[in-house]
Amino acid sequence: DWTMAAYREEMVTRIREQVGDAKVICALSGGVDSSVAAALIHEAVGDQLTCVFVDHGLLRLNEAEEVVGMFRDHMNLQVIHAQEQERFLSALDGVSDPEIKRKTIGRLFIDVFQHYADQIEGARFLAQGTLYPDVIESVSFSGGPSVTIKSHHNVGGLPEKMGLKLVEPLRELFKDEVRALGRELGLPPSFIGRHPFPGPGLAIRCPGEITREKLEILRKADAVYIDQIRRHGLYDDIWQAFVAILPVRTVGVMGDGRTYDFACALRAVTSVDGMTADYYPFSHDFLGETATRIINEVQGINRVTYDITSKPPGTIEWE
Ligand code: XMP
Repeated sequence: DWTMAAYREEMVTRIREQVGDAKVICALSGGVDSSVAAALIHEAVGDQLTCVFVDHGLLRLNEAEEVVGMFRDHMNLQVIHAQEQERFLSALDGVSDPEIKRKTIGRLFIDVFQHYADQIEGARFLAQGTLYPDVIESVSFSGGPSVTIKSHHNVGGLPEKMGLKLVEPLRELFKDEVRALGRELGLPPSFIGRHPFPGPGLAIRCPGEITREKLEILRKADAVYIDQIRRHGLYDDIWQAFVAILPVRTVGVMGDGRTYDFACALRAVTSVDGMTADYYPFSHDFLGETATRIINEVQGINRVTYDITSKPPGTIEWE
């Protein structure tokens, strides 16, 4: 796409002008926006950019290795893999209220990121994958009624606190343009097309108390579910799909024995922007096959349900 190629060139020039020979840090989440921003800035200023990938212990199966591996080995970026699982999980110990979960994770995320950023000498800029819709939203919402349904977790407020200037090379783009730019920069198409994943991660897909045991079961079940969706060629038709592990054990039978394991809920929705959503109309065959696979392959789950709530009145995530 020649226009994207030209845009890429122009942005590289603009980033170089803005940053000069200063250092830039970036919180890499593995999401499309921060990934494309990092790839673009890396092209402009190379090793002046350092990314920090915070592993809060609430990521999906193999996610940290995949993201860090791709950026470090495939794209040659400097990435610090912050292994802070213990810190986050112990802070969440015994917490079951959704808002307290989000605030705990958000607050710790900022502390942890700041800790790593402080070690990068001479950092003057913070890169963010802010998109055009984020820019307009923050303007049109100001002064309007403030109704907070869920507190979203990101690095808001961080730049001021750390005395950093922002580099936001995606501020003029919509999501589909960011994807095109990402392809132009050589990010793998499978990566560009990934479903959104919330900052608080699996914490909000584990209603009630978060335990390591539940997280491990959830990771396995989610991996089987997504594998099923990919095998059936449905991944790109769906806006977002995931498993939530329910805070309830139920009785089942397996072989000659009685089981007493967790129930889980599958979620899959179509949406344009995440503001409204419809549940995805899987065939009964698909649902049956997926339930059987999860119960056979994931120890700790003996019952599978499908969430058929649309948004509104439901939200996409369970918390
Ligand atoms: P809900 O559950 O509010 O989600 O219908 C709408 C979209 O937003 C994502 N989401 C989040 N993303 N931080 C994020 O970065 C968050 O705290 C957060 N909460 C929800 C959700 O995955 C869906 O795509």
